Amino acid sequence: MSAAPAMTIPHYLQFKDLDAATYAYLFERAAFIKRKFKAVEKYQPFADPDRTLAMIFEKASTRTRVSFEAGMYQMGGSVVHLTTGDSQLGRAEPIEDSARVISRMVDLVMIRTFEQSKIEAFAAHSRVPVINGLTNEFHPCQILADIFTFIERRGSIEGKVVAWVGDGNNMANTWLQAAELLGFTVHVSTPSGYEVDPVLAGIRNPACYKVFKDPLEACAGAHLVTTDVWTSMGFEAENEVRRAAFKRWCVDEDMMRTAQPDALFMHCLPAHRGEEVSAEVIDGPQSVVWDEAENRMHVQKALMEYLLLGRLA
Ligand code: CP
Ligand code: NVA
Repeated sequence: MSAAPAMTIPHYLQFKDLDAATYAYLFERAAFIKRKFKAVEKYQPFADPDRTLAMIFEKASTRTRVSFEAGMYQMGGSVVHLTTGDSQLGRAEPIEDSARVISRMVDLVMIRTFEQSKIEAFAAHSRVPVINGLTNEFHPCQILADIFTFIERRGSIEGKVVAWVGDGNNMANTWLQAAELLGFTVHVSTPSGYEVDPVLAGIRNPACYKVFKDPLEACAGAHLVTTDVWTSMGFEAENEVRRAAFKRWCVDEDMMRTAQPDALFMHCLPAHRGEEVSAEVIDGPQSVVWDEAENRMHVQKALMEYLLLGRLA
């Protein structure tokens, strides 16, 4: 079923596209949907009329693809999977034309691409909601899953400290947006030259993050310690330079020891043991990375339900 053009189409292009009350609703909804999944109960709000999600990947993916695709089928809908290589996107069809065409045939679009401006151009010409499945600048679905995972384990994240150790990348920028919106603080430590970009993230309250030269200091007293690869997709040419610059930004047991005794460790994955995180930490008792990965599916089901059907409770 393809939707008619609407006055205002709700997109999810950045974390700040939704407000705190909507996040509270989404976290409750994700918990409800997860309970159904665990109880092996059918929950198919997209079955009748049938809803279709187009997934466009211009970069590699394991978790994003599986979580959106499995989630959509479980909800009674279906998916179309496109990549740059097997569609006209790779042959320079304008993004605006692709948006006009694809959005006439499906109900929802998820895009993983390079510049944020590309997903914004697509959304501006789309008749249906567009979800950011990762851009160079942001990764909002991942932070949605991370915060849901934190809440499951520790309750509200409000007032807590999240330590970000590593690259000031799409994940880090999204953490800043989440901190400002949901009332927690991010302690950021990056090598120089790889800082977060609060201007790009549109941060208005500078108190939502604090910058530390020493990653160990950033972890002091943190309730959650988190990191990501030293080289994100699209930056592979910088691999060797980054490997040298990031040497001290490996989350190890010393860093975890300076955090709260019950601090959690998260990583969006894929991870490189011995680079941004030691095997002892990612495979250790404080790590919740497997729940974090699974929760991508539960929160995205809640997000897709919200974008297509609005608030149900
Ligand atoms: N965390 C994440 O987005 O993983 P994929 O790159 O495998 O989708
Ligand atoms: N920052 C990483 C996240 C991968 C899920 C990247 O953009 O490649």
